[in-house]
Amino acid sequence: MNTECYDVVIVGAGAAGLSVALDLAKQKSTNIALISKGPVHEGSTFYAQGGIAAVLDEVNDSIESHIQDTINAGAGLCHQDSVQYTIENGKSAIEWAINHGVKFSTDDETDEYHLTREGGHTHRRVIHAADATGKAISQTLLQQVKQHSNIKLFEHHLAVDLILTPDAKQSQVKQCIGLYLLDTKINHVIEISAKFTVLATGGASKVYLYTSNPDSSTGDGIAMAWRAGCRIANMEFNQFHPTCLYHPEAKSFLVTEALRGEGAKLKLLDGTPFMHKFDEREELAPRDIVAQAIDYEMKRTGSDFVYLDITHKSADFIKEHFPTIYKQCLKFGIDITKEYIPVVPAAHYTCGGIMTDLNGQTDIQNLYAIGETAFTGLHGANRMASNSLLECLVFGRAAAKKITSELTDYNCEPILPPWDDSRVTGSEEGVVVTHNWDELRRFMWNYVGIVRKNNRLLLARHRINLLKREIDDYYRQYLINADLIELRNLVTVAELIINSAMQRKESRGLHYTLDYPYKDDKKFLKDTILTPPP
Ligand code: FAD
Ligand code: SIN
Repeated sequence: MNTECYDVVIVGAGAAGLSVALDLAKQKSTNIALISKGPVHEGSTFYAQGGIAAVLDEVNDSIESHIQDTINAGAGLCHQDSVQYTIENGKSAIEWAINHGVKFSTDDETDEYHLTREGGHTHRRVIHAADATGKAISQTLLQQVKQHSNIKLFEHHLAVDLILTPDAKQSQVKQCIGLYLLDTKINHVIEISAKFTVLATGGASKVYLYTSNPDSSTGDGIAMAWRAGCRIANMEFNQFHPTCLYHPEAKSFLVTEALRGEGAKLKLLDGTPFMHKFDEREELAPRDIVAQAIDYEMKRTGSDFVYLDITHKSADFIKEHFPTIYKQCLKFGIDITKEYIPVVPAAHYTCGGIMTDLNGQTDIQNLYAIGETAFTGLHGANRMASNSLLECLVFGRAAAKKITSELTDYNCEPILPPWDDSRVTGSEEGVVVTHNWDELRRFMWNYVGIVRKNNRLLLARHRINLLKREIDDYYRQYLINADLIELRNLVTVAELIINSAMQRKESRGLHYTLDYPYKDDKKFLKDTILTPPP
């Protein structure tokens, strides 16, 4: 017998998945499966550096100011209700994290929590654990999860597809009743039956060749939800973080925006600062502006990177506030207390995703989406720094509350259609998968990157159509493994990005195209919503 039964199955053990799990687990009778496709800590959350934005200094800061900054960064597309809900619940989300044991940095002099600043924020409001905030959150919440006997942790298990009620195709109302799960160590698929399914699978930045994200960010939740029939919104808004370390041996290492919050300057290779030419907020302009400025200067001067200079700060300050970055750069021979840091922009955050309401409920009954995989309307056309972890915690808790209120006695009925691999064989053509992974990420970077153009989008769409056919054929012929499933999902996500980008014939926030360089509020002050074919 292959089917396991749970009240709630949560796919993803980052900040979003962990916060849903912990609040659900308070009801001892609720049986929860918490799934991660790699080692349990592996996801963007673990690598988050800068911190979490929330109004904690009520004397100098205000909820209205955080709301306004978020809306300004979002370039007209933030949903007022989502922004307000998230920010009003910010302080209690931080208190929740503190109560679960997360240790944030304090100010040496006042002993109060140290608040830093990042791009787009008009106040210091980013609470952090030095420059390794995500590690503190991930490790602490995971420790808590392990205390709960009603949470079963599945590591190295990859959700392949959602399972809907058998009549879902004909019916107006679709309902999710579980999912297929691949044990990646033995390549064996089981069925998980659950009353509620929560997708907390993170973003899709691995669709680009250069990214700050870990390997897990392959957009699996977005692709699964799309195949199941959920609407997906605003996929053209891919955020490129301005400053990832440029070094041949440094894979995906971010240099936090908090350095710029503490006065670090961006410089050309000859040492000339340049941000003043692009925005009066200079280094603290929102990310879309800073990344586009760096891209412009790199192309103009023909350089492979620019510099970030924090040497105006004392060595003691740098080592205390940015120990991870200091040590990591030193490994590559760069002493950031004395030398400039070579940096380049890289894909960082997926603003679009599975459409949800303010409880994380998707278009499909009993299916929720939380965190970076979701589209709640908070970020609009550009996410403001450190609003993402906040969204994970606030919406994770909201979803747990809603699900708990709807959990009634539930008898597991293991009547799910079994995974059928009777007509496929093992493949000796793994090269098709590795080649296509590489090709996809390269053309997405070159044709659908920071600066776009119609003809490049058309080229990308042409290639995606070919890849889709090849991957579909491969999927039908051969036994699945993790690489194949992730590639299949990346191809879907890439197609959603390209189609969304082609629909938006203007430049706004993170979507910048040379063919339509200006905002067009008359036609495009709206979300790009894609509806799956019936
Ligand atoms: P993740 O933390 O990415 O977790 C995804 C989980 O889903 C993982 O457990 C993964 O194994 C699992 N998963 C995915 N697909 C499957 C599948 N098919 N089957 C099973 N499991 C699956 N934001 C901020 O607000 N502040 C910051 O300072 C900050 N710094 C950042 C620094 C870096 C380097 C990066 C990459 C991001 C940063 N961000 C920051 C963004 C933020 O970290 C992420 O948006 C957030 O952590 C996403 O959390 P999540 O729980 O949605 O997903
Ligand atoms: C950073 O620390 O620069 C990343 C912050 C974020 O992505 O919110």
